[in-house]
Amino acid sequence: MTEAWRPDDDERSRRAATGPVRVRVPAKINLHLGVGPLRPDGYHELNTVYHAIALYDELTARRGDTLTLTMEGEGTGELALDDDNLVIRAARALAAHTGVPAHARLHLRKQIPLAAGLAGGSADAAAALVACDTLWGTNLSRDQLAAIAADLGSDVPFLIFGGTALGTGRGETVSPVLARPTTWHWVVAIADGGLSTPTAYRELDRLRADGAAPPPLPNADALLAALRQRSPAVLAATLGNDLQAAAQSLRPALAATLKAGETAGALAGMVSGSGPTCVFLAADAAGASRIAAELEAAGVCRAARTATGPVPGARVI
Ligand code: C5P
Repeated sequence: MTEAWRPDDDERSRRAATGPVRVRVPAKINLHLGVGPLRPDGYHELNTVYHAIALYDELTARRGDTLTLTMEGEGTGELALDDDNLVIRAARALAAHTGVPAHARLHLRKQIPLAAGLAGGSADAAAALVACDTLWGTNLSRDQLAAIAADLGSDVPFLIFGGTALGTGRGETVSPVLARPTTWHWVVAIADGGLSTPTAYRELDRLRADGAAPPPLPNADALLAALRQRSPAVLAATLGNDLQAAAQSLRPALAATLKAGETAGALAGMVSGSGPTCVFLAADAAGASRIAAELEAAGVCRAARTATGPVPGARVI
């Protein structure tokens, strides 16, 4: 746990927002996802490069007498809006940490699909921390919010920061990757239905135990060097995801999606995180639009979207 920080009540109410606070938060992909051994705490040691892309959820926080959550968009009717929801858990965690009442009316507009390997739930938790911090006037630093975020999920700290960052530990320890500003053009192929993250990790352990998994990825040095070169073709050659074999084993149809992206001219394609979303790197914006149209026409995904990266993490707009 992080050390509690309790702002002076008068100072806090001066800073608290009176009107609605709107926060936009991106999805993440992993440019490199190296999965190490299973740890005694049930998590795997990771060496990953996170990358935030311009596919967004939006969370609006308003003053209220209790804590409520409503939603629209992706996953409406499927996602429970009760105390288990990561948005509610994030709001309560911030309230507990700062000693303020967890009172807010929260509304989520969701574009990031559920259980897709894009960290949608983690993104919403990061958005809730930033939105409630502004609404309540608790004014924590990004580092303080990231420390609370780590208790909510391995990907949540990254989504506080965004950009491109190295993730270690179980993914919760993030440090920014310094590279000259470059915009990369991605295509995101959204699948029908989701994949459970713990199931994908378990499947990787099973494949490894059976000697049926590809060799683990080396460290991310080649990818980090490629990011500095700003050439999509160079970056394409270094993308990699240890969980891809597990996602493909659980969802054999992903092979056709990956093949279709390659046929459409993608420089590289891979499963995003624990899947089942596939992401493709395009040479430029026009290439990304063409690949997205071809993927949809081929019927190998529910929807294909273009998205640039990197973009900032959860921000008030
Ligand atoms: O941290 P988070 O709650 O998002 O993780 C969900 C699940 O994914 C964990 O309970 C664990 O089964 C798996 N996981 C893992 N190793 C990681 C991160 C997640 O095995 N580094």
